[in-house]
This record gives sequence, structure tokens and C-alpha cells, in this order.
Amino acid sequence: MGKSSKYVAKVPDENGIIPYSDEEHAVWRDLYSRQIDIIQGRACQEFLDGLDMLKLPTDRIPQPTEVSRILHERTGWQVEPVPALINFDRFFRLLAERKFPAASFIRTREEMEYLQEPDIFHEIFGHTAMLTHQAFADFTEAYGKAGVKASREERVFLARLYWFTVEFGLLQTADGIRIYGGGIASSPGETIYSLESDQPLRRPFDPIDALRTPYRIDIFQTVYYVLDRMDDLFELAGADLLALIREARALGQFEPTYPPKQKEAA
Ligand SMILES: [Fe+2]
Repeated sequence: MGKSSKYVAKVPDENGIIPYSDEEHAVWRDLYSRQIDIIQGRACQEFLDGLDMLKLPTDRIPQPTEVSRILHERTGWQVEPVPALINFDRFFRLLAERKFPAASFIRTREEMEYLQEPDIFHEIFGHTAMLTHQAFADFTEAYGKAGVKASREERVFLARLYWFTVEFGLLQTADGIRIYGGGIASSPGETIYSLESDQPLRRPFDPIDALRTPYRIDIFQTVYYVLDRMDDLFELAGADLLALIREARALGQFEPTYPPKQKEAA
């Protein structure tokens, strides 16, 4: 956060409707049709069930208002359109109020494979399906509430917990490991890599371990944490996350399992 973006936030009108061009709707259609096939047999059942409930349009960008209507009925959540980059204060406050901050712009065709910033495809396709699941929804709210109270230093640790669950979480199932993290589920390349590559480590999820694990946002992950059961997030929602951070800080950060970032030429 704090970096500039080439994308400009789309502002909803007085009825909460965000205007998109035909080309932007076509980008959604193409992203959706590719990714819906790739996640079959790879996303967890909870994710696929969530998508079924949401009935996202395939040929146009869904409006936050229509997604919010269904989410609100299920778990009390809603989608809040925001600029591409928001500060941590606002981010945590929104989550604490069961409002999922969603960047409202959609990527251009030059970035169909990968973009570093979240766009509305990542936010809605990647994240809202799991917010129909009660344990996941409760955990995300509890996470926001902890973030509101956390210090600047504690927020660095909290960001890791979000990263290794909401963004890049894997789930153990009777059929094998599946995806629930929205950062994976909205990325065709990482959907396949996270499950099928022999490169990354896949460790059993432990909140203290996740809090101690550094990450890079510009590469496929080198470590994933695999949750035993989705309902384990109920327990984490009830835990004192700030106490877990104190424990993780006392133990110290793990050594990175990725190469250092190359300095970009000026
Ligand atoms: Fe995200």
C-alpha cells in the first residue's frame, strides 16, 4: 500500500451502480470463462458451493450491490467498492464491519495473466464465494477487529495471517488438497502451481507459523499453509489474535524460503 496505481477507481452512482464499458465487461467474460474451468476439481467444495449461491454473471461484471444482497442473507457480509489501494486503518475497519473492500476497476487485456494489484475479478471471483461460508466469514470479521486494535508492528504480522489464509490458503479434503484462498483461485497460473508443482512447501496450517512466515507479493508463493477443516476457522475467529502475535514475535520470523527481490533499475 502507498504505491501508485495506473488504474483509476470506478465510482458508483447514487444507486450504487458502477458504470463499465463493453470492453471491460468482455474482459470479465474472458477471465471468468477461463478460470471457472481451471478451478473445477481444484477449488474446495465450500468455494464452489459459494459460487453456486452467488450465481455470478458470466458475461458482465457483477455489481457489488447484487453480490452484497446474497452475501448479506447468508452471513451478513457485503461488498464495499473502494479505490485500488486503501490504507490499513480503512481496510481493517471495513472488515470489522463485515464489509469486504473491493477494488472496483478491472484489469486491461495486457494483464490478463497477472497483475500485482487486486482488481474486481480478483475481489469478486476470488474472495466473495468463501464469504458465504460462516466459519470463513466469522474469521474474516474477527481478523478485522483485531487489526483495528493492532499497532503498526502487529499489523505486519497480521498481514501474514491474512496472506496465508484468505489470499493463499489451501484446505485438506478427503479428495486431496484443494484451494480456498482468493489470491490463488483468481489466478490461472497459481491455481495449477499451488496444487501440482513440486516446488512450493505445503505445511499444515498453524496460526503461529503463518504469523512468522515472510512472503513476497510478486512471485508464486514458496510456502502454502493447509487447513485441516474449514470449520477450524471458527476456532481462530474466537482466538485472541493479538496474543498469538505476541507469541509469534517472541519466537521470531522464519527465514525466507524465496530469493531476495532484485532491485529494479531506476
Ligand atoms: Fe485479495
